[in-house]
Amino acid sequence: MKILNVALVGCGIISEEHIRAYSANKERARIVICCDIDPDKASARAELVGDARATTRFEEVLADSEVDAVEICTPHHLHTEAVIAAAQAGKHILCQKPLAKTLAECDAMIAAAEDAGVTLFYGEMNRTLPAAVMAKQVIDEGRIGTLIGVQARTAHWQGGVYMSTAWRYDPKITGGGQLLDGGIHAVDLMLHIGGPIESVTAFSARFRPELGGEDTTVVNARFDGGHLGSLFTSQAAGIWVPEANFIAFGTEGALTLGGSHGALALHRYDLPGHKQVLLERNGDPFAFMTSRYLDTVLDGAPSISPGIVGRDNLAVVLAAYESVRLGREVRIEEIEG
Ligand SMILES: NC(=O)c1ccc[n+]([C@@H]2O[C@H](COP(=O)([O-])OP(=O)(O)OC[C@H]3O[C@@H](n4cnc5c(N)ncnc54)[C@H](O)[C@@H]3O)[C@@H](O)[C@H]2O)c1
Repeated sequence: MKILNVALVGCGIISEEHIRAYSANKERARIVICCDIDPDKASARAELVGDARATTRFEEVLADSEVDAVEICTPHHLHTEAVIAAAQAGKHILCQKPLAKTLAECDAMIAAAEDAGVTLFYGEMNRTLPAAVMAKQVIDEGRIGTLIGVQARTAHWQGGVYMSTAWRYDPKITGGGQLLDGGIHAVDLMLHIGGPIESVTAFSARFRPELGGEDTTVVNARFDGGHLGSLFTSQAAGIWVPEANFIAFGTEGALTLGGSHGALALHRYDLPGHKQVLLERNGDPFAFMTSRYLDTVLDGAPSISPGIVGRDNLAVVLAAYESVRLGREVRIEEIEG
């Protein structure tokens, strides 16, 4: 079987997780080159991979016929240009969240990948988490009855490390703050499990002005299916409470999904102890994500996270920001076009 040769583009905080993920999938893919405008970062990551080269020139990556695919791990606002250039160079693409800053940018990225016949995979590890995949199946099987609502939470303070990336919460650079950066992970779970969202209301606040933008946001959502949802996301909260960061409530029971490695439990009154653990915490989310991506690129499996997923996630975030700005409920269709 062919081994996919991957270029890591952007060698900052998250790139280490991608290196680990590829080493967990080493029989199918390998990182051959690490690219960053900062030569020290590119070299450090190449060293961590072991047998990869380092470069500061993205054009070199694109021109390299050995490279089959790129892993876009640059700051949010730089994704669009890199993804379109990679597609035009015939490379498959896994792009970190958020896909882009605007829906028009998302559309251009998706179109570029389609035109070039390459895969654009939205790198959201919640989508590929076995517990999330299973949660959806459990709900579809009716095991919590009719879905009435979901509650999501992603709140913690990542302190100095994230402060070092000044672009992250600056709305002038990225178009958003914590909801766009961290909350979007929970938005993905809400959409994956609850289906399309029709409208949102949101409030934002700032508790750590040094971050430069919104650091805490709540979003209330009305789903197409008639059920409701809420999200609390903060980059100001003093500590992460990982036990149950997502709950789906049904007329017959509830599902809880906890921790970054996803443990899934079914809660029903007719169960012994009213609870059955369906899945224990089960491994590295980035390795799962990479594995699902490789299923698509190497084996032609239908993509579990195509570019449109990133677009749908961003639409909810942008509608929430619009709700904060206007002080009213905003329908997703209002921000289209
Ligand atoms: N899935 C997750 O849990 C998670 C966590 C953190 C970050 N992320 C995402 O990963 C991406 C990167 O975030 P980060 O935390 O690693 O940021 P970071 O600032 O630590 O790293 C970004 C890197 O990109 C480099 N870079 C900038 N412009 C470049 C260019 N034109 N070509 C090559 N490299 C360039 C920078 O020098 C820097 O090293 C963002 O999209 C972010 O949202 C995801």
